[in-house]
Amino acid sequence: MKVVGFVGSPRKKGNTTALVNEVLRGASESGAQTKVFNINELSIRGCQACYKCQTPEGKCVQADGMAGLYDEIFSADAVVIGTPVFMFQVTGQMKIFIDRLFALLYLEDGQPGAFRNKIKGKRAVTVYAQAQPDTGLFASSFDLNEGVLGFLGFKIQDRIVAGGMLGPDSAQGSPSVMEKAYSAGAALLK
Ligand SMILES: Cc1cc2nc3c(=O)[nH]c(=O)nc-3n(C[C@H](O)[C@H](O)[C@H](O)COP(=O)(O)O)c2cc1C
Repeated sequence: MKVVGFVGSPRKKGNTTALVNEVLRGASESGAQTKVFNINELSIRGCQACYKCQTPEGKCVQADGMAGLYDEIFSADAVVIGTPVFMFQVTGQMKIFIDRLFALLYLEDGQPGAFRNKIKGKRAVTVYAQAQPDTGLFASSFDLNEGVLGFLGFKIQDRIVAGGMLGPDSAQGSPSVMEKAYSAGAALLK
């Protein structure tokens, strides 16, 4: 079993990284192989809307930091997608990554709107870190993000929202949210 994490924070040692790593630790201690990628480090360009990926075998034609990530997703049994909240939403880095996951879809017979999935029901845990203590504040934004991930073929198993995360070490000082992250990882492949 393989679980791959993607972190959409520019802080390499911030809260999102700590929480995603904790989900992965839970998965690892339940027997999974794990890996994590920091999207911010990978120089990933926005989707160029060429639609070349939109056939059953179609791949993204851009040769950048995203290129290796498609096979990581195809070969994973589950993924962990973590992002800080920036301006009520996922970070720009995470939005670009998700736009590039357009290549997980194809248009049946090239028909407009006839999207089909290249992955189906791949398990996913989402992780959000935010400064605001009220973890319900951005729920509509998280619902939208997970609607997109569902459309792309992921099955969301769990959502971790860490509130009150201002400094980069806040998550490390919040045992309850770290425990939730660990449990989500431990349950991910059961
Ligand atoms: C540009 C920017 C925008 C932010 N917008 C929000 C926001 O809308 N709501 C919120 O609660 N926190 C906001 N924050 C705070 C971060 O979400 C918070 O510090 C988070 O823990 C950062 O995660 P990280 O340590 O993984 O980078 C923002 C931070 C930055 C730098």
